[in-house]
Amino acid sequence: MEQLLEQIETYKKEIKGFAATDAKAAEEFRIKYLGTKGIVKAVMAELKNVPHEKKKEFGQVLNEFKIFAEEKFESLKSSTSSLEHPTSNIDLSLPGDPMPLGSRHPITLMRNRIVSIFQRLGFAIAEGPEIEDDWHNFTALNLHEHHPARDMQDTFYVQQNPDWLLRTHTSNVQIREMEKGKLPIRGIYPGRVYRNETVSARSHCFFHQVEGLYIDENVSFADLKQTLYFFVREMYGKDVRVRFRPSYFPFTEPSAEMDVSCFICGGVGCNICKKTGWVEILGCGMVHPQVLQNCHIDPNKYTGFAFGMGIERPAMLKYGINDIRLFSENDVRFLKQFTSAI
Ligand code: PHE
Repeated sequence: MEQLLEQIETYKKEIKGFAATDAKAAEEFRIKYLGTKGIVKAVMAELKNVPHEKKKEFGQVLNEFKIFAEEKFESLKSSTSSLEHPTSNIDLSLPGDPMPLGSRHPITLMRNRIVSIFQRLGFAIAEGPEIEDDWHNFTALNLHEHHPARDMQDTFYVQQNPDWLLRTHTSNVQIREMEKGKLPIRGIYPGRVYRNETVSARSHCFFHQVEGLYIDENVSFADLKQTLYFFVREMYGKDVRVRFRPSYFPFTEPSAEMDVSCFICGGVGCNICKKTGWVEILGCGMVHPQVLQNCHIDPNKYTGFAFGMGIERPAMLKYGINDIRLFSENDVRFLKQFTSAI
C-alpha cells in the first residue's frame, strides 16, 4: 500500500510537468492517463486489493488523483486548441478596429484649392525640378548677372556645381514649358521653393508657390485681369474687391502686384492687413518679349501673361495659423486638425 501511494505521487509529478504544444500531445496525455487502458484506471483497479478498513481513505486518494489528471487534461486541451484555432477565443460580436485615416496637409489643401480654380479655366498642371540650373531659374527669366535676387544671401547654391541651385521661385517651370515649343500654353505650376532667409514665425527658408502662364496670339493685359478676377471671386467670394499696383519683375513688362480687400476685416483695417484694408496676394505681368525669345517663341506673333503667388500666407489667413514653422514641424496634433474634401 505504501508503495502504491508513492507510485501515485510519482505519477502526479509526471502529470504536473507534462507540457503539450499541440492538440496531438494533449490527446496522447488523455490516452496515457485517462484512457480505458490508462494509468488512472489501472491505479483505480488496485482498490480491490486494499484491506477493507483502509478502503475509504484510499478511495479518497484515488479519486483526487483522477480529478487531478482530468483537470490537467482540460487545461492542456484549452491551451492547445486556442493555438490551433485562433478564432475560438475571439469575440466575433466586438466592433472592428477603426482604420486610422490621415488628413491632408493644410498647404496641400490650399494648393489644391488654388490649382482647381485655374483648372476649371483650362489651365493644365505641370511641375519642374527643385534643383535647377542658373538658366531656368535666372538667366532665361531676364535676371541679369548682378540682379539682387541672385545674391548669395537669397539663393542656396549646390556646392559641387556653382551652376546649380535650389529654385527660388516656380518660374523655372514657365521656362521649361515654353522650351518644349508647343503653343499655345495655358499652365498652372505649383511647387516648393527655397530662399536663404532666417527662419522665424513669418518667414521660412522654404515655402510654396503656384505660378500660372498663358501664351497665345493676342493675349492681353485685359485677359490677365479677367483671369485673376475670376480667381479672386472663386477663392474669396464675390464681395472682395481687387486692386492692381504697378510693380517690377525682370521677366514681365508691364508688371503688377495684386491686392484684395482684406477678407478678415472687410477692408476696414486690422492687424492682418496692417490697417490698410488690403492684402497683397500675387505678382503678375505680361511675359517680357526677351523671355519669349530666350525660349524660341516669336514675340511678334505671341504674347502672354504670368502670375505667381505664395501658398503659405493664404493658408495661414484661412486657417488662423500664426507661425509658418508649424507647417513643417510634422506635429500630428497640428496636422490632424485639417479636414476637407479637397
Ligand atoms: N516669380 C515671382 C516671385 O517669386 C512671382 C511672379 C511670377 C511675378 C510670375 C510675375 C509673374 O515673386
